[in-house]
Amino acid sequence: MPMVLAANANAQGSHVGEWRHPDAWSRPAANIHNAVRLAQIAEAGKFDLLFLADGNGVRQMDKPDLFGATSPSDRPGVFEPVTLLSALAMATSHIGLVATATTTYDEPFHVARRFASLDHISGGRAGWNLVTTSNPEDALNFNHTEHVARDRRYERAAEFATVVKGLWDSWADDAFPQHKASGQFLHPSKVHVLNHKGTHFQVRGPLNAPRPPQGHPVVFSAGQSETGKDLSAAHADCVFAIEGSLPAAQRLYADIKGRLPKFGRTADDMRILAGVTIFVGETKEEAEALFQQLEDLVSPAVGVDYLSKMLGRKMQDYPLDGPMPEFDEEHVGHTGIGKAIMRMAREEGLTVRQTYRRILPQMGGNMFKGDALAIADIMEEWFTSKACDGFMIAAPVVPTGLERFVRLVVPELQRRGLFRKEYDGYTLRENLGLSRPANRFFVS
Ligand SMILES: Cc1cc2nc3c(=O)[nH]c(=O)nc-3n(C[C@H](O)[C@H](O)[C@H](O)COP(=O)(O)O)c2cc1C
Repeated sequence: MPMVLAANANAQGSHVGEWRHPDAWSRPAANIHNAVRLAQIAEAGKFDLLFLADGNGVRQMDKPDLFGATSPSDRPGVFEPVTLLSALAMATSHIGLVATATTTYDEPFHVARRFASLDHISGGRAGWNLVTTSNPEDALNFNHTEHVARDRRYERAAEFATVVKGLWDSWADDAFPQHKASGQFLHPSKVHVLNHKGTHFQVRGPLNAPRPPQGHPVVFSAGQSETGKDLSAAHADCVFAIEGSLPAAQRLYADIKGRLPKFGRTADDMRILAGVTIFVGETKEEAEALFQQLEDLVSPAVGVDYLSKMLGRKMQDYPLDGPMPEFDEEHVGHTGIGKAIMRMAREEGLTVRQTYRRILPQMGGNMFKGDALAIADIMEEWFTSKACDGFMIAAPVVPTGLERFVRLVVPELQRRGLFRKEYDGYTLRENLGLSRPANRFFVS
């Protein structure tokens, strides 16, 4: 299988200082023209897919410096992702369109319906990033006074995914003949009423949409905790993984793929994509200069607020140039990402300032920096040494970072035979080399 390339379609890049950079778009908030341009750049580069992270709330209002400077994941001015991807479907023809939807604060019927619709609209290019919601405050917008407890979120997520897939199988693939002459619009024998009654949901069905072109839109997830990894192994076709080093990424890759047999699946049923921000220049020096320019656009107050957000701890209490404090790993952050940051700080002996600088480009995730050959070398190493099946790439500055990647790195990956020159398939599943799931209720 060729390497998978996914583009983070956040119009504000991945770096907190990005939007202030002279090359960044002016007025990036909820701007459809920018979104179309970004999708077309990624499609010209033969990327497999565009990915939109999402949450249902505005974050960091309690951290005024960070909130005012706006970090890319605070989401004060973004589009609802499936709405946006429906528009992008009409401006593109091959690239996959992957949006995030929460299993904690949404309903399986709504999610099944939205993604079935996107799959039909796009001709089989839809993907659902299944999350349990990482931002606790989103709960306040959904009749809750606090975030649903973690175990319960994951338990609900597993049942949610089962219901969604059951709803996607509501109709046989040939259930809608729509014969004008005979008057047969649909076959009443080719519908399955789900009648799901579980712990969290009661859903009768069927879905009011024909079976999606891909059978099931491609399911993504990103959990790195034990429960998160099990959920991925049970339900995800693709996993986003964030690890800061090659050995850690190799361990995570082997761990997640090793869980698949438990759920009757094989390693080929899943693609794992490493999240990475890529700073590429015509020369190594140009890439380094861009990195420094962006750092200079983030004040220490904003940087420390950002670190506090990622760790779920108030980092203003510690000297900026002193060592990172030791925290009990179980009580860092809301997710596995906080733990990954602490591990990195400990292993590399970083100060508070060095730690926030290290994570500014992309959460606790990785960063590749250099000229095209150096970037292609490291991508090849990760890909061939089973650290990942591909990459979820964030550009430090949008759109120029993505344009540069497409112009400089993609041809080098193609020359090495690692990446496609043309799209081989029409659907996202075909391009990812994933099979189309059979309908659970109808043998075709
Ligand atoms: C690349 C990537 C993208 C993610 N996108 C979202 C997102 O859009 N919305 C969200 O609530 N969580 C998102 N997450 C967080 C994950 O859903 C998950 O909470 C996190 O990876 C921690 O895993 P854990 O819950 O198993 O500890 C993302 C994580 C990664 C690595």
